[in-house]
This record gives sequence, structure tokens and C-alpha cells, in this order.
Amino acid sequence: MTRLVRTRAELAAVRARLAAELGPDATVGLVPTMGALHAGHQALFDAARAGCDAVVASIFVNPMQFSQAADLERYPRRLEADLALCERHGVQVVWAPEITEVYPDGPVRVWVTAGELADQLEGPNRPGHFDGVLTVVTKLFAAVRPDLAYFGEKDYQQLILIQQMVRDLGPAVQVVAVPTVREPDGLALSSRNVLLSPSERADARILSAALAAGRDAGGPASAVLAAACQVLGTAEGVDVEYLELRDPELGPAPVTGPARLLVAARVGSVRLIDNVAVELGR
Ligand code: PAF
Repeated sequence: MTRLVRTRAELAAVRARLAAELGPDATVGLVPTMGALHAGHQALFDAARAGCDAVVASIFVNPMQFSQAADLERYPRRLEADLALCERHGVQVVWAPEITEVYPDGPVRVWVTAGELADQLEGPNRPGHFDGVLTVVTKLFAAVRPDLAYFGEKDYQQLILIQQMVRDLGPAVQVVAVPTVREPDGLALSSRNVLLSPSERADARILSAALAAGRDAGGPASAVLAAACQVLGTAEGVDVEYLELRDPELGPAPVTGPARLLVAARVGSVRLIDNVAVELGR
């Protein structure tokens, strides 16, 4: 049965009980979320259940990672449905704190800063976003003390920055990447998809179609980008912000070998991102 805890003190008590019940070698997996859970989160829970003895999910819409108040305001919230989904997917503990539990002294004075990668790709559109993410993830790690933490490849830049933070700052947690879950027509699952109107939802599939075209084109970077651009060029109502090829760590794209193709676009008023792995050749 899923146990809902609200305060840090409750979380600490439940965490200590888990350790006592499961023994010193048991592993605890954390799935950090902002709620509005969907099949993408289910995949994270299932991976955590398969890899750990106990699974803790956090549900917290972190104001520090929103650069626009309106975006924070309209972020979907539905705790009851989220709890039911956690229950179905074997999550033992859900920590859904009030903002004062996470930020008891108000806005933090000390941040984890994400470095130069945070100024690229998503960065220009979302100033301060990744500092907010890394700061709250640091707080979640400190409160839950997980052995493993699960993040989706859908937010690929976030995943890479969290991996870099763990390597650079050394919290004792292993980051596990979980592949993106897609709708049958290819659209990557996202909590923001519910904000799309029916016609925007139809337009949105062009993002994954473009990435698939790029991936399937193979060959050098120019061929991959040309194939993806051609598909994006057919899109009405889709305002592309970037389409970029990088190496898997989000450095400059290699000439050949593994790479990542990433896209961001506005579909109506909803901003969507997606990415795929690509193999570059000659
Ligand atoms: O990916 C998310 O849902 C959020 O950025 C995270 C990692 C839970 C931090 O608030």
C-alpha cells in the first residue's frame, strides 16, 4: 500500500522504518516528479521497482524552476489520481510536501548552479530553470537519501545535468536513465500534453516524426538535420525554437558515431521538447 507523507519529519520516520524493515543492504529508489503522472512516470516507477527494494516518489511542483509565473500557475495538479497510479505501480512512499517543507526559509540564498550547458538548448528560453532543478533535486536527495534515482530521457538536458551534478559534487546516489515513453503516433508523453487542444495535439506529432526522419536518414550530420528539417517544414501551427545535433553528453556533435538529435517547439501556447539517439555515419 502506498503511504502518503507530507512533512520532512514524517518522511524521515518512514525512511528509517523502511531501512529497519528491509535490512542494511536494501536499496531505496527515488522517482522525483512534479505530479500529473502519466505512462512516462509509470515506466520510471516500474524501472525503480525492478532495480530497488523500495520505491519512494516525490510529487512537488517546484516554483524555483519556473521562469514564468503563468507556466507555474497552469501546471496540472491532481494528487488523488497520482496517488492511485503510484498505488498501482508498487510505490511504497509518496512524499508530497508543501512548499514550506522544501523551502522553510523562503527562496534559497545558495543555489546549485548548472554551469555552461544550462545556457544552451533549453537555457535561453528558460533562464535559471536548471539551477532550480538541480537545487531542488539536491534537496530531494538529502531528504530521501536514495541509493538510486530515476529520470526520464524525455528531459534529456535535465538528465545530463543531473548526471554531471552527481559526478561533480558526489552525492552517493546512482542516476538511472529511463527511455522516453511515446503515444502510438510517436508523441513523447509529457504532463504538458493535456494542455494541447485537439488540433494542437494533431500538430504536435510532427516533432517526433521529424526526429524519426533524422534518425532514419543516417549518414552525416548534414543529412540527419536536412531530413528532420524537411518534416518540420511541413508543419503548420508549429513554431520551432531549435533543432540541434549534439554528442550524447550534449557537447558538440561528433563526425561519426552516437549522437543526440533534440528539438523544441511551440505548438499553440504549449512548449514541447523531444529527442532521440542517432548514429552518425559518413
Ligand atoms: O522532471 C521533473 O519532473 C522535474 O524537473 C524534477 C526532476 C522532479 C525536479 O523538480
